[in-house]
Amino acid sequence: MADKDGFKVAKNYHIDKPFAKQGGFYVKGMQDVDWGMKTRLSSIFQPGSGHTVMLAFDHGYFMGSTSGLERLDVVIPPVIDYIDVLMATRGGLRTCISPSSGKAVALRVSCGSSMLDEDLSHEVIGVSIEDAVRMNASCMAVQTFIGADGEKDSLDNLCKTVDAGLKYGIPTMGVVAVGKQMERTSHFFKLATRILPELGAHIVKTYYCDKFEEITAACPVPIVVAGGKKLPEDEALTMCYRAMAEGAAGVDMGRNIFQSLDPVAMVQAVNMIVHKNATDKEAYEFFLHLKNK
Ligand code: R5P
Repeated sequence: MADKDGFKVAKNYHIDKPFAKQGGFYVKGMQDVDWGMKTRLSSIFQPGSGHTVMLAFDHGYFMGSTSGLERLDVVIPPVIDYIDVLMATRGGLRTCISPSSGKAVALRVSCGSSMLDEDLSHEVIGVSIEDAVRMNASCMAVQTFIGADGEKDSLDNLCKTVDAGLKYGIPTMGVVAVGKQMERTSHFFKLATRILPELGAHIVKTYYCDKFEEITAACPVPIVVAGGKKLPEDEALTMCYRAMAEGAAGVDMGRNIFQSLDPVAMVQAVNMIVHKNATDKEAYEFFLHLKNK
């Protein structure tokens, strides 16, 4: 293993150069995966734009009923038309969401303790690969905790899920967790978003931060941006716009959509930025227009 202090040369992310190994398939870094995995990736990243709008409503797996998600069966269906991927638990999907939505599924497969626990970084894999196949998952989502007590176990969860998914052509999405122990700096996110694809993750979910274009440049797979805590709608749309302009392949938003003053308007505004190259200003104007109708 190289010594940690031995790298004194300044880093060069070649921001001006497009990803080089791109021929043959449009999803970043996925040129050489199997046909079945490519069909699943195509159900996540829309062939027209190459991008994705994921709706995260898996919060209940450790938070119970989150504000805005007290009733998955009531809150989620109205926004489904404007998203590409349902990111959720198998329980949330089976009990509350119609299987006829036609949307891809990012199935949360890792789980741990509840929000009552001080340290949430100790997760296990709680869904078998057979059940992920039964759920027709387009990808499996595993939480990882770089810099936390549970770092090693969470990376083990990721590697085992990648191995299981490779047997059946199901991609794995590595989710970068932030928490009390983890700094939200570009240094931290650069570390995390490179470790996960090196270990085999096909998609990385992370947070927007400074120097985001360096993060997307150094990550050889698509990055989807997490929404995080609820922001005013204009700020959330600006974050979404900047992330896309700086190389993200989409968003995986939860609270900024379902806790919005108007979730159906908000999800359409997000969709405009992700799929139709709208600016944040245009998207916010559209949001206000829909909201005031
Ligand atoms: C975060 O990565 C967890 O999976 C969450 O449960 C969820 O996906 C977060 O969504 P948001 O921060 O956009 O509400």
